[in-house]
Amino acid sequence: MTDNPFASTTLGRLTLKNHFIRSATWDGMGLSDGSFSPAQIELYRDLSRGGAGLLTTGYIAVTEQGRRNREQNLLCENRHTQSLRKVAEMVKREEAALVAQLVHCGGYAKTEISNLPLIAPDGKREPIFEDSPRAVTEAEIHNITTQFAEAAARAREAGCDGVQIHAAHGYLISQFLSPCTNHRRDEYGGSRENRARFLLEVYEKIRSYVGTDFTVTMKINGSDYFPDGLECADSLKITQQLAKLGLDGVEVSGGNPISKPLTPIPRAIKAGENEVPFQNEMLAFTESLPIPVAAVAGIRSLETAAELLKQKVALISLSRPLISEPDLIKQWQSGREEPSRCDSCNRCFIPAFKGKGIKCNKK
Ligand SMILES: Cc1cc2nc3c(=O)[nH]c(=O)nc-3n(C[C@H](O)[C@H](O)[C@H](O)COP(=O)(O)O)c2cc1C
Repeated sequence: MTDNPFASTTLGRLTLKNHFIRSATWDGMGLSDGSFSPAQIELYRDLSRGGAGLLTTGYIAVTEQGRRNREQNLLCENRHTQSLRKVAEMVKREEAALVAQLVHCGGYAKTEISNLPLIAPDGKREPIFEDSPRAVTEAEIHNITTQFAEAAARAREAGCDGVQIHAAHGYLISQFLSPCTNHRRDEYGGSRENRARFLLEVYEKIRSYVGTDFTVTMKINGSDYFPDGLECADSLKITQQLAKLGLDGVEVSGGNPISKPLTPIPRAIKAGENEVPFQNEMLAFTESLPIPVAAVAGIRSLETAAELLKQKVALISLSRPLISEPDLIKQWQSGREEPSRCDSCNRCFIPAFKGKGIKCNKK
């Protein structure tokens, strides 16, 4: 173990040039057919030149029914694979690794985008949903599992170095894991084992499609911070089970869009003051897992990154700091001492909601 964030490291079978990850970040720039746009290829060029050892794509829906944004990429047709290949080639040219994050948004998807029914673990309109879903059937669960695996195989074919299963933030897998959004009475609901069944089946199906020499990681909530939500002890046990099955690494996030006091994209983080809000859960994971744990959320300075590595965290994930300054890591490596200029105002979403993509919009 090293506390030098610029030393090389490994994740599964991958060797990374340093410990920095660009955390999955929807950029609001995908084409409406789900393909990656020329603007996205430029974005990934800038990010890979900016110094991170590994870039995670924004959440890519494994099927149209699981899509939440019109500009969200898809990975279910040949044209999607081809457009992702252009991103992968660009990232490789700059000697970074690329992991595709795979998601089904479930009850948090948008029917006006997919023109398909909204589905969730049960048919209740939960407080976190904007619309009423219907309960996903067992046959659909098996089909979605296959859609995840097919998307993972496409990511491999496109030249990605791995996939990250998005099991956090209140999307479909997280909806199954959390007692507050899963009131099923069959083998996919109730006990922790049952709530985790869908995730485990997704993982195992992905493995059966991509083999053991392809990196498969996961982003999961350490805690939902929501009444009756997933709590750290359960989240950790589920991840331990996956680690036994061969999961290569885990990124520990938290919350859902209406959770309190923390959401997945916590505001008002200040360098040196309140960095790393999910620290307790993340350290619990680090102590109890044999696989690399990535810290995410509110990491704003090189000192904090080094301190986390000292505490045996394996990888440092950044999202908003790289929206603000895509070359921040390169600058830190060249001796810059100042922390990220990002003050977590979340105004980067404003241009995206006007169709102009995610951009730093700090006042
Ligand atoms: C514009 C934006 C888009 C995001 N999109 C995703 C996403 O697609 N998948 C995901 O897991 N997290 C997503 N996140 C959350 C980040 O990956 C990260 O967990 C969170 O922003 C906290 O890290 P930070 O403080 O470094 O920004 C997004 C965050 C932002 C700001």
